[in-house]
Amino acid sequence: MDNQTLKDNWQIYLQKNSRWHNKFHLEMPFGLVNDPNGLCFYDNAYQIFYQWNPTSCEHKNKHWGYTQTKDFINYTIPQIALAPVDDFDKHGCYSGSARSKNSKLEIFYTANLKDENNIRYPRQILAVKNKDNSFTKKEIIIETVPKGYTTHFRDPYLFSRDNHSFMILGAQRENLTGTALIYEEISENNWQFKGELKTNYPDFGYMWECPNMLSIDGYDVLLFCPQGLKPQGNKYNNLYQSGYLIGKFNPDTLEFTHGEFQELDSGFDFYAPQVLVHEDRNILIGWIGMPERETEYPTTVEGWIHSLTMPRLLQLKDNKIYQTPISELNNLTKTAHYDLTKINVPSKIDLEINLKNLDRWQGTIKIQGENLILSYDKLTQEFCIDRTHLTLGSKGKRLFKVKAADILKLEIYVDTSIMEIYCQNGQACATLCYYPQDISKSISFDINCNKNAVKAKIYELNSFNFI
Ligand code: FRU
Repeated sequence: MDNQTLKDNWQIYLQKNSRWHNKFHLEMPFGLVNDPNGLCFYDNAYQIFYQWNPTSCEHKNKHWGYTQTKDFINYTIPQIALAPVDDFDKHGCYSGSARSKNSKLEIFYTANLKDENNIRYPRQILAVKNKDNSFTKKEIIIETVPKGYTTHFRDPYLFSRDNHSFMILGAQRENLTGTALIYEEISENNWQFKGELKTNYPDFGYMWECPNMLSIDGYDVLLFCPQGLKPQGNKYNNLYQSGYLIGKFNPDTLEFTHGEFQELDSGFDFYAPQVLVHEDRNILIGWIGMPERETEYPTTVEGWIHSLTMPRLLQLKDNKIYQTPISELNNLTKTAHYDLTKINVPSKIDLEINLKNLDRWQGTIKIQGENLILSYDKLTQEFCIDRTHLTLGSKGKRLFKVKAADILKLEIYVDTSIMEIYCQNGQACATLCYYPQDISKSISFDINCNKNAVKAKIYELNSFNFI
């Protein structure tokens, strides 16, 4: 696949018959999409890259796909930015990040190389954007894995503190526990190993993928994806987790004092998020999918799998990250109505449920007779998403805390085969896939209680444009 072919055929790909392609979620017409990569602002546009295997729905042959947007509604036709064609990255151009530096767009990624015995040789590479939109792999900036760590060493993410540039990478100690390592840029693209990030989680999963170090409202926030946590009641129910620690990071000592690990998304299909920092906004985009679970996503019969989440603004409140779709997405709105019996997809459903006279509320999203059940228990403050009655795709339930007193507020973004549910103005959110058998029909929402107890409004949404 080359960029000219992608460009020439994009509209044809979009019109290809597909039951489940989404309208306002980024995804590719074929192949496998995973982690968002290289998110940054450059040349007056948001730069969005992502892991992409253009040739099959399997986790191999990882390229970097690439699109740009000024408004998060209109996107450039996706292109390939990096292909795993060099000796040092022939087993994949793995995840990484980007920055705008001296008017150049620099991207940093992990070159994955394995020998005949399947031993990995991860190297961290700098690539630079050329005027014609192509990228040149410039140099290996980190050649070897530091002593004391295994070859699970990847996913460089750039951040700065007091005018110093740092890189944080996911790693595994030789005792097979996960951690994150810090490098500092001591002169232009000369990266020096500083050491391990010192947290209170010395034994928390076997590998930490995709760490991001952020600064939000004066706090340092570490996002990371620990692999290998066992489910604990309602926590850690997906195969791998994505979560965060809020605290204070000392770049001199690498000490990070922080609170408890909290999950970012309480749904079924969310992993490997990355945060774009621009002006005063921290904008998160996640991967809607889960590694090693490809058989659970029926879109593979259409030759494509996985998507990216809507961009979400991160804010700190009550020692938690609140997530809400960025305001640009309000421009997707076409028309509004109040008829819960006829909801065309894509739409956004806004609900305000008055809990004064209810201990428990249950609502059912009816997708041609199949029920997706949402419920809230006021006493336990637990919200539940129940996918067990859907025919296609993965099933199960997810339960999570939502603090609500009198009013439970829900914003449900419904795309062709994805829902993102935001509760209580972003206090909790949950991403899930669902696979309607017939997409030509509308869906309905049965609120299951006295009509006066619920205020509902439905906004029909437009699709993203590719130009
Ligand atoms: C996370 C991840 C990263 C890796 C990439 C490969 O989903 O496993 O650690 O760089 O995907 O596609």
